[in-house]
Amino acid sequence: MKRKILVTSALPYANGSIHLGHLVEYIQTDIWVRFQKMQGNECHYVCADDTHGTPIMLRAEKEGITPEQLIARVAEEHKADFAAFHVEFDHYGSTNSGETRELSEQIYLRLRDNARLIEKRSIEQYYDPVKQMFLPDRFIKGECPKCGAKDQYGDNCESCGAAYAPTELINPYSAVSGAKPELRDSDHYFFKLSDPRCQKFLREWTRGGALQPEAANKMQEWLGTEGENKLSDWDISRDAPYFGFEIPGAPGKYFYVWLDAPVGYMGSFKQFCKLPSPNGGGAGGGGAPLNFDDFWKQGSDTELYHFIGKDILYFHALFWPAMLEHSGFRTPTKLFAHGFLTVNGEKMSKSRGTFITARSYLDHVKNTEYLRYYYAAKLNGTMEDIDLNLDDFVAKVNSDLIGKYINIASRCAGFIAKKFDGKLLGRNPKFSSNGEEWLGKFLSIHGDDSYIGHDYISEGYERRDFAKATREIMLATDIANKYIDEQKPWELAKQSGAENQLHEVCSIALNMFRMLTAYLKPILPQLASNVEAFLNIDELKWSDISGPPYTDKLLPHGHKINNYSHLTTRLDPKLIEAMVAANQESLKPMTEPHSEQRHAAHQQHTANTEAAEANKSFEPFISIDDFMKVDLRVAKIVNAEHVEGAEKLLKLTLDIGEEKPRTVFAGIKSAYDPEKLKGRMTVMVANLAPRKMKFGLSEGMVLAASGQAPGLFILSPDEGAQPGMRIK
Ligand code: MSP
Ligand code: ZN
Repeated sequence: MKRKILVTSALPYANGSIHLGHLVEYIQTDIWVRFQKMQGNECHYVCADDTHGTPIMLRAEKEGITPEQLIARVAEEHKADFAAFHVEFDHYGSTNSGETRELSEQIYLRLRDNARLIEKRSIEQYYDPVKQMFLPDRFIKGECPKCGAKDQYGDNCESCGAAYAPTELINPYSAVSGAKPELRDSDHYFFKLSDPRCQKFLREWTRGGALQPEAANKMQEWLGTEGENKLSDWDISRDAPYFGFEIPGAPGKYFYVWLDAPVGYMGSFKQFCKLPSPNGGGAGGGGAPLNFDDFWKQGSDTELYHFIGKDILYFHALFWPAMLEHSGFRTPTKLFAHGFLTVNGEKMSKSRGTFITARSYLDHVKNTEYLRYYYAAKLNGTMEDIDLNLDDFVAKVNSDLIGKYINIASRCAGFIAKKFDGKLLGRNPKFSSNGEEWLGKFLSIHGDDSYIGHDYISEGYERRDFAKATREIMLATDIANKYIDEQKPWELAKQSGAENQLHEVCSIALNMFRMLTAYLKPILPQLASNVEAFLNIDELKWSDISGPPYTDKLLPHGHKINNYSHLTTRLDPKLIEAMVAANQESLKPMTEPHSEQRHAAHQQHTANTEAAEANKSFEPFISIDDFMKVDLRVAKIVNAEHVEGAEKLLKLTLDIGEEKPRTVFAGIKSAYDPEKLKGRMTVMVANLAPRKMKFGLSEGMVLAASGQAPGLFILSPDEGAQPGMRIK
């Protein structure tokens, strides 16, 4: 029976670039979907940009464009990035669509009028009197009420980890305008999760097998025990100005972004159903047009899966099913939550150069299937974090993909072309040497007759334990290589009378290669399609290789293959080094001339979340001795001038108490008028090795502060400091 499956990945925010962390999710989902399609199931994969909310509104304002312009631009970037990583959605929409608006309104009105689960009440909230808007928690900063750390966000302290309400912050200020916020009353709309009907439903739903065991446990914690009423009502409205959907019957009030975001799954699918090519042009195909209700009406027998990160489990396991259930829609079959990406064992960090965007990977490494393979080898279907160890990445790709898999074809294909007119030998009726035996070993993987290895591969894919699937595939690959090692086709080619054996070995090995390609196809779709062209075969399906009798799954006698051309190359570790260096440079002080351009470009593409990330990730600890290696001196700017032909640089002449003043080229032209710098005191690194630049020798570096927000700020010592004084 063909299964009918609808799959989603979380909708990425439309104010940031896709990075390698996101890709864990999209690649995981894509592999699973491709596997389902290869199985012949009807499987539709939809996603969209998550476009609403305050950060997107403010970001657009800062760039001087409308939110619609911003989300249109980001949508194009996102789509290009996903395509480059072979993440193939059947439809990619936007939450800012007519479909998502209608469905959000419908769900809200049903919750309000049929289920009576919406309540209006007045709450007190911080208001920015300068910017004239209510402030989300993340836009209020102040001192932590527990430990006193400065500049903490309104919801929790990054220094001591305490969670609190924004009203508890000491000396709060608006992160938008800097103004002191005022408490004001406003009517808000709440979804009554505390209602006994919701609690009862969620208690049952979260235990009903839709969640991974770790997630189900987490839910029991959040829900508390029977009778305990731990869930509080959910605030689903925000006041104007807000970029989102206005709430029906409530002028000036908007749906909170997390209300319409998951509705975007439905909205995007609805859009897909309306497309002219029925059955979405997606899987299955050919049949009747796709019907929205088939997949979303209550009691639907289709399957619905949401792939998400563990950070958004709360929204998907509580709010979302409760919304659906009480507005007459079906609930998800399962949520597949995954862990977070670490790089070299640590959180992705800009200062270490490991906060890597999809673009940056493409610019440096190019081949995106390497990353797909590495992630597959790491993903096991649990919520554990997964680590991208960059050395291991290079080693694994080169040993598994190049050294084992591609090696099979590169060792055998040439002989078929040269000696046998490109034609393969078939089983006729049986192979003459021990090829039959090796084929058996290869097909069973674990040395028995049950072909259990095959089942492990399918099972691994189905359960999202891709680590297991790839392990099994590599075991089979090892067997194919052992066969070639034993038979040594390169020696057979030199012996007279060994023609037939050579033909047999190379034909069997290439059949093995073909089967391995089918196994790997969900992970390596591009490479698989190149192999299909080389082997001159139709698109590989799971049924080509699986299901008894396995030994019949060979290409026919006389099948002609094409000339072998290089399928893929080794991953050069230098590419990875360059990528990390490039990402690291973007955080170096902007006064280092060669990094400024990249920094500016970078700035344009970063998200609020990344800004938070940049603030959080400090360099690792160093000893005082390490610090003392940097010779920092108070410097007087005796002269500052423009440099002819330099777009970003100023030429500074710095007095640090030496006989001859130093010349330093600094990338601060965008922020400072040279006239105003003359006579100012600042700070320089005096023992940075001199560097020859296009415009002359630079004998040090001045320091400046910069963040995600525009602006660049050089330092000044307090009054009284003299040129040449050491800073320590
Ligand atoms: N817009 C929300 C999702 C709404 S779904 C109705 C959101 N967007 S996001 O851009 O921040 O994240 C999108 C997905 O990527 C989430 O599932 C998130 O968990 C995942 N990841 C983002 N950074 C990640 C890592 N560093 N590692 C693994 N997954 C990560 O959340
Ligand atoms: Zn604190």
